[in-house]
Amino acid sequence: MAGKLASLGAEVHLWGRREAVLHEAAAALRETHGAQVFTHALDIRDAAAVARQVDHIWQQHGPLTALINNAAGNFVSRTEDLSINGFHAISDIVFRGTFYVTQAVGRQWIAQGLPGAVLSIVVTWVDTGAPFVVPSAMSKAGLDAMTKSLAVEWGPKGIRLNAIAPGVIPTEGASQRLRPGIEGNRDSARQRELDNPMRRLGTGEDIGNLAAFMLAPGNTWLNGQTITLDGGDALANGAYFTDYQAWTDDDWALAKAMAKGAR
Ligand code: HXC
Repeated sequence: MAGKLASLGAEVHLWGRREAVLHEAAAALRETHGAQVFTHALDIRDAAAVARQVDHIWQQHGPLTALINNAAGNFVSRTEDLSINGFHAISDIVFRGTFYVTQAVGRQWIAQGLPGAVLSIVVTWVDTGAPFVVPSAMSKAGLDAMTKSLAVEWGPKGIRLNAIAPGVIPTEGASQRLRPGIEGNRDSARQRELDNPMRRLGTGEDIGNLAAFMLAPGNTWLNGQTITLDGGDALANGAYFTDYQAWTDDDWALAKAMAKGAR
């Protein structure tokens, strides 16, 4: 998404927890697109740090025109095995952290009477639910509700909120946490491609193109919508991870070790 927007001339501010990863991403965007890219290392679970950093951007760089909420945390687990800390690790990022950022940016726009656009990344499981990732499913459903609610509350101020509900866009980090390749698991990437009506999984280009469309300055009547971007997968196949019902205790132990090893 950042690459697509940078290619269209956007100044990009990247947030994340790890400075080295941010620097690497910024360097790639500068090199490929000649873009103006700035990075800010922080954890969105810290509401005070979020407010400070939003202030800093406004003071040093001027107002943002758009916010993309893409931060998330997730791993597969039987819900009865989750600790309260595990529940918080996910919901504090996805549910609370996204609210902190949206509120901090919205406050600036409102105080200055500026228009703005918020695009939140959810998942198709806001419609289907999702077994074995219940804290994520609950939190993403909350963001879907935030999108609809604030679209109405902040629409009169020229601030619009929309969301994309992507299907499977494979990345190494997500695969290690969500699809650890337990033996006999039919949920391989190849099988997911064959099951998808479009016979492929998603790509960064897919979501970059839709994000650019939804944030485009000429698109100001699009408000309060969550657009599914999955090649029709959820319509054909419903919720993810249903076949994990067959996993044994050993499979779950292995999945946990792989997710923790991905850190
Ligand atoms: C069970 C786990 C666990 C696991 C952590 N915990 N990993 N429990 N299975 N695999 C528990 C820990 O035991 C601990 O509880 C608590 O969670 C907090 O763990 P920490 O390691 O201290 O958490 P933290 O450092 O905050 O790490 C956050 C994280 C981590 C979310 C747990 O995985 C992370 O940083 N992930 C990177 C981002 C990410 O997940 N990206 C994928 C997003 S995919 P106890 O009780 O032991 O103290 C996504 C949806 C996409 O969001 C859908 C695509 C289809």
